[in-house]
Amino acid sequence: MNTGQVRDWVRAAKHIAVLTGAGMSAESGVPTFRDSQTGLWAKFDPQQLATEEAFRANPSMVWDWYAHRRQAIAKVQPNAGHRALAGFAKRHAGRLTLITQNVDGLHQRAGSEAVLALHGNIAQDRWLDTPRACCNAHAVAAGSPPYCDRCGNMRRPAVVWFGEPLPQSVFAQAEQAAQHCELMLVVGTSGLVYPAAGLARSARGRVAIVNPEPTALDDAADAVLHGTAAKLLPVLLED
Ligand code: APR
Repeated sequence: MNTGQVRDWVRAAKHIAVLTGAGMSAESGVPTFRDSQTGLWAKFDPQQLATEEAFRANPSMVWDWYAHRRQAIAKVQPNAGHRALAGFAKRHAGRLTLITQNVDGLHQRAGSEAVLALHGNIAQDRWLDTPRACCNAHAVAAGSPPYCDRCGNMRRPAVVWFGEPLPQSVFAQAEQAAQHCELMLVVGTSGLVYPAAGLARSARGRVAIVNPEPTALDDAADAVLHGTAAKLLPVLLED
C-alpha cells in the first residue's frame, strides 16, 4: 500500500477521524513513552509516577516530574505534521475530527481547534480531592504541589493517569467520530493503551496507520505506511 492510495482516500472521505499518539510529537523533540531507548517508560516507572496512588504516596516527586515535562514541552514547537492537520481542518471545515492521546498541547498550538484530548492537558492542573468551600484555585499555597492552606487539598496535573477513566464527554465524541468516519488516520501510537486504541478497532471507515514501526493495531488497518508524522502527513493532507 502506498502513500498515493491513502491520499486518494483522504480526498474522497467526507469525514476523517484522526487518532494521534506520542509519535506525533517525536519530531518536535517530545519523547515517546515506549521507545526502548528514549521512551519515558524506559527511564521511569509509570507505577511510581503516573497513578493516583503514586501521587498520594509521593506528591512532590510526581509534581516535580510533571513540572519538568511541562517546562520541556513549553520549549518545543509543533512540527509539520501538527501544522498539516491544523491546515487541512481550516481549509475543509467539518471534515476532520482530531482525537489525541497527547497531553502536550502541540496540536492546539499548531492551530487545531476542538481537539478531543482523551488524556488531558499537562499545562493544566486541578484539585486532587473534591474541592471544599475553602479550596480556591486562584489562591493556592505555594509548594510542590501547591495546596489549599485551609484543608490541605493538593493540586494535581490535569492528565489521565493509569487506572483512571477518560473524560466521558470527550470519549463519547471520539467514539461518535470513529463510528461516522469514512477514514481514520492513526498516527504515532503503539496502539497498546485502551480505550483509546479501541477507537481504531471500532472505526466504521478504512483505517490507515502512519508509524515508522509495527504497531499493535496493524491487524486492524487497511493500510500501514512506515514513515513519520512530520514527513507523511503534509503529503497525505495536501489538496
Ligand atoms: N512519527 C510517527 N510515529 C512515531 C514517530 C514519528 N516521528 N516516532 C515514533 N513513533 C511511534 C512509535 O513507533 C510508537 O509506535 O509512536 C509510537 C509511540 O508509542 P507510545 O510511546 O506507546 O505512545 P502512545 O501510543 O501515545 O501511548 C499511549 O500511554 O503512557 C500512556 O497516557 C500515555 O497517552 C499515552 C498512552
